[in-house]
Amino acid sequence: MSRQAYRAALVHMLDDPCRAPAAEACAYHTDGLLVVEDGHVAAFGAYEDLAPALPAGTPVEALSGRLITPGFVDAHTHYPQTDVIAAWGSQLLGWLNNHTFPAEQAFADRAHADEAAGFFLDQLLRNGATTALVFCTVHKTSVEALFDAALARNMRLIAGKVLMDRNAPPALCDTVETGRADTEALIRAWRGRGRLGYAVTPRFAVTSSEAQLAMAGEVAAAHPDVLVHTHMSENLDEVARVGELFPGHRDYLDVYQRFGLLTDRSVFAHCVHTSEDALRRMVGAGAAAAFCPSSNLLLGSGLFSLRQACACGVTVGLGTDVGAGSSFSLLHMMGEAYKVGQLRGEGLDPLHAFYLATLAGARALKLDDKVGNLAPGKEADFLVLDLAATPLLARRMAAAKTLADKLFVLSILADDRVVERAYLAGALAHARDGDL
Ligand code: GUN
Ligand code: FE
Repeated sequence: MSRQAYRAALVHMLDDPCRAPAAEACAYHTDGLLVVEDGHVAAFGAYEDLAPALPAGTPVEALSGRLITPGFVDAHTHYPQTDVIAAWGSQLLGWLNNHTFPAEQAFADRAHADEAAGFFLDQLLRNGATTALVFCTVHKTSVEALFDAALARNMRLIAGKVLMDRNAPPALCDTVETGRADTEALIRAWRGRGRLGYAVTPRFAVTSSEAQLAMAGEVAAAHPDVLVHTHMSENLDEVARVGELFPGHRDYLDVYQRFGLLTDRSVFAHCVHTSEDALRRMVGAGAAAAFCPSSNLLLGSGLFSLRQACACGVTVGLGTDVGAGSSFSLLHMMGEAYKVGQLRGEGLDPLHAFYLATLAGARALKLDDKVGNLAPGKEADFLVLDLAATPLLARRMAAAKTLADKLFVLSILADDRVVERAYLAGALAHARDGDL
């Protein structure tokens, strides 16, 4: 058995801070001890409480000035879109046609997909994302490239082949039958390997026929261990287009519901223009939303109301939505979510933002029995954050008194330099300073 302990400040969330009293929702130890045994968390607590019981001979690494957190969960992103980060000039539907669809066509080539997958996963790790729910492209091989790269890194990743049979370039369209066959084959080939999971991934209602959405619902129903991952109500032109393509439905969610895609394993990215009625139907079904503030601001999609979603009881994770979103950093997304909250007059408590980036994301992806915090028994995916990574950060951090102050400073000033190390299942997977 391997056992290693780390002494540093520690923080993680145990519950939703909007629903549980702060003392129960969050555990914070300024002098803490994290004990890792065989890739899992064995203990998390105050150093003075845990040190006396530590088995003799356990190595303890002292990491002063550092904050250990759980790895972040990116609840919605696209690995083939790294190269459209910072593409400007249009909103969603124009951006897809002008930038995204051309970039995705390159993933028919396995070598391109391999290179892009490796770069993408390394970016996740250097920014502290240890778990993610990821769109691939319509090409089966794009999923194989990403899963191979994730398996090699032992990352906890859920991904799927995009289903798209209309309103997209012919080179990016499958059919009902090839979409079904490829999806079934991928589920069979990858289920249970490493820390991988599959998500049935119709892109959005605009690019799938009724028959394809029905097929996606059938495949999801046949495989209770897979998620459903799609976009919903991101942009007003998109919502109007869905109304034209699917007349007679109560709303956008109703389209997904009719085809069996509203499930307790569904993650709907965006939900910016989703009514309270639809949010409540999501709660009734056990579906989750992914809030993607950077993307929503850059594409001008709108301002998601986290307050409304929380009041309705929706599980909300935080997504980078690369490449509409411009950063791989969930810390940065916490800051962007705060700015959206400010524009809505809602604000956002830093502890709530931290919950979104960790445990809430794990809950949205139905992985909270495995990751999302550092409770004993969970997989030891954690980060060592350097709170003095830049001169400005060090200066502002020195004046930050409370945990909320510190998390807020990180959310506004952090980038990948803050992530000194990232561990996956107890093993060092990224070292900022190159001592991997
Ligand atoms: N809606 C449908 N496809 C996409 C996509 O690739 N990115 C975003 N942000 N929204 C979408
Ligand atoms: Fe997206």
